Amino acid sequence: MATSAVSLDKLRPARPEDLDARIRAAKEKLGKRAIILGHHYQREEVYRHADVHGDSLMLSREAAQQDAEFIVFCGVHFMAEVADIMSRPEQVSILPDLAAGCSMADMADIAKVEQAWRELGQVLDPDESVTPVTYINSAADLKAFCGEHGGIVCTSSNATKILKWAFDRREKVLFFPDQHLGRWTGYQLGVPLEDMAIWDPDQPMGGLSPEEIRKARVLLWKGFCSVHQMFQPGHIDRWRAANPDGFVISHPESSFEVCLKSDFVGSTDFIIRTIKGAEPGTKWLVGTELNLVSRLAEEVKPEGKQVEFMSPMVCMCSTMFRIDPEHLAWALENLVEGKVVNQIKVPADEAELARVALQRMLDLS
Ligand code: 13P
Ligand code: SF4
Repeated sequence: MATSAVSLDKLRPARPEDLDARIRAAKEKLGKRAIILGHHYQREEVYRHADVHGDSLMLSREAAQQDAEFIVFCGVHFMAEVADIMSRPEQVSILPDLAAGCSMADMADIAKVEQAWRELGQVLDPDESVTPVTYINSAADLKAFCGEHGGIVCTSSNATKILKWAFDRREKVLFFPDQHLGRWTGYQLGVPLEDMAIWDPDQPMGGLSPEEIRKARVLLWKGFCSVHQMFQPGHIDRWRAANPDGFVISHPESSFEVCLKSDFVGSTDFIIRTIKGAEPGTKWLVGTELNLVSRLAEEVKPEGKQVEFMSPMVCMCSTMFRIDPEHLAWALENLVEGKVVNQIKVPADEAELARVALQRMLDLS
């Protein structure tokens, strides 16, 4: 039963310890009715309240397995959409701040993807020869597009497996929205760089000639993550000169040159597992979001491991950072009062097709 709603303004300004206590109290009252999922990029004051932590693959699997009435997603919009799509209809997915989007996901939209498909149709039959593969960092309607056209979703931790699947079915892949993950994965599978072409959605025919389209095995959407573009090959060179015995590990959203110069490339979860599993006393340079790197550096310090952030600039994911303790307390306290705020609901027809593409991915992972 809804009683009075809790106002966000009344939570400000609040002392961090008060917010912490309010979040704990609301969680306690909700008990098993609510579960909090937290991505590795979340700030510490939020991360500590998550019941489950993970990368985007792990959290999408978790979302499909939860029994709780409310799934409170401390992450970004596309993740809460996945939670809604993969959970049962009566479960409710909540994003504590609706402004927590993903600038990379916004670089592809359904109108531009459908236009690309039509334009490709002037050169070849895309439904015969192109598998659309969307990175999970994309809106639900793009996942639905993939579900409808024999395509699939991938994350940074399963992209190689997914691309292999895609090539087993059709000769080409249209990969959106992250060109860097697409290029790195294609390269890992032995596709030469000259057989991967950038599809610029703002140019007619993606800026490509019919010959270039016919030759390409991977068409890379011209999207990128602004956080991971901050990492430069020069950062690695300088660090290696000072730490010749150290290791470099990067997220595949980083540029091709950064990935090529890294000893290891993988998802957020892979980065955490690799460094936690490494020998005591080892040194690491890490190319991914700052909140994750700072937390990891503290966690492995007692084993004498040294973890450094790749860029000299502070580069956090500003949208992940939108989820703050105020918004989390607000969302939870409203649930205690019987009021759902910031529900993420994907339209049923779109969700059904998106689920097809997501389930294909989960079945392969
Ligand atoms: P992961 O799949 O590694 O969690 O990455 C998600 C993301 O948005 C990285 O920028
Ligand atoms: Fe999106 Fe980049 Fe933030 Fe990941 S780090 S959520 S890709 S903007």
